Amino acid sequence: MIVTSEKISLKHLLTAESLSDQEVMGLIQRAQQFKQGDRSQLNEQQFFTANLFFENSTRTHKSFEVAEKKLGIDVIEFDAKTSSVSKGESLYDTVLTMSAIGVHACVIRHGEENYYNELIESKTITTSIINGGDGSGNHPTQCLLDLLTIYEEFGEFENLEIAICGDLTHSRVANSNMKMLKRLGANLFFCGPDEWYNKQYEAYGEFITIDEAIKKVDVMMMLRVQHERHEEGHAFSKENYHRDYGLTNERAQQMKAKAIIMHPAPVNRDVELADELVESYQSRITQQMSNGVFMRMAILEAILHGKA
Ligand code: CP
Repeated sequence: MIVTSEKISLKHLLTAESLSDQEVMGLIQRAQQFKQGDRSQLNEQQFFTANLFFENSTRTHKSFEVAEKKLGIDVIEFDAKTSSVSKGESLYDTVLTMSAIGVHACVIRHGEENYYNELIESKTITTSIINGGDGSGNHPTQCLLDLLTIYEEFGEFENLEIAICGDLTHSRVANSNMKMLKRLGANLFFCGPDEWYNKQYEAYGEFITIDEAIKKVDVMMMLRVQHERHEEGHAFSKENYHRDYGLTNERAQQMKAKAIIMHPAPVNRDVELADELVESYQSRITQQMSNGVFMRMAILEAILHGKA
């Protein structure tokens, strides 16, 4: 493990893999300090942030809001439906406005992959961008809170056996996590329907069945079936999916004694995993949610302290 006493400073957070290992470990350490009750010096200055969510969210949006309030940040309310977006204003012009009125950082979730490129290339926009999810692209803050959750459990990533299971193609969580977990030394496996597996994942891990994975992995990372990203009319049976690719109660009984279940949520109960398993002793799903607050505090601090 890399131990760092240096303060992490970030201009933007767009993808997880743009972070160095030292920055990842620094953010994990800082999140753990916040979890233990540490306070930030950010509270002594006035900072403004805006959470611009153009796709629905419960966890990312609300845990950023809690993190911002814990850090004493003034959060500018924004609702795409009642803003000038409803009059046709572009994302660029919305962020340009936030920058001009003195917002130091924008947390943005948007359906378009790489939406952030034109924002960071702008010479006029000075606000920092924190990517809260871009289409099926990246979800760096979810990846970092997942890394925190795994690190808390095992104290390392090296040689951990981790299965990422389900709707791989449409999951920005899978995309961010496979790259980072592989880089940090974990052995990865992928499970799920063939149609959601892509040969490019071979660079990160091996495609096996969930029945092969269940007995050997330390982490079963289940993914939400992203119906909203599937083609209209796509045939899908919840029961068949759960039987063939889901974490059933029977499969969970075959997990190693210290293995854990993760899921970014929202969970489709009885589809990706059995209802009873969501809050079971093996599950770290609620811990992922609460870790989201502390990791997002660490990210906000790393972005904002350079702007003091
Ligand atoms: N895990 C996650 O991103 O959840 P939300 O879509 O509710 O933010």
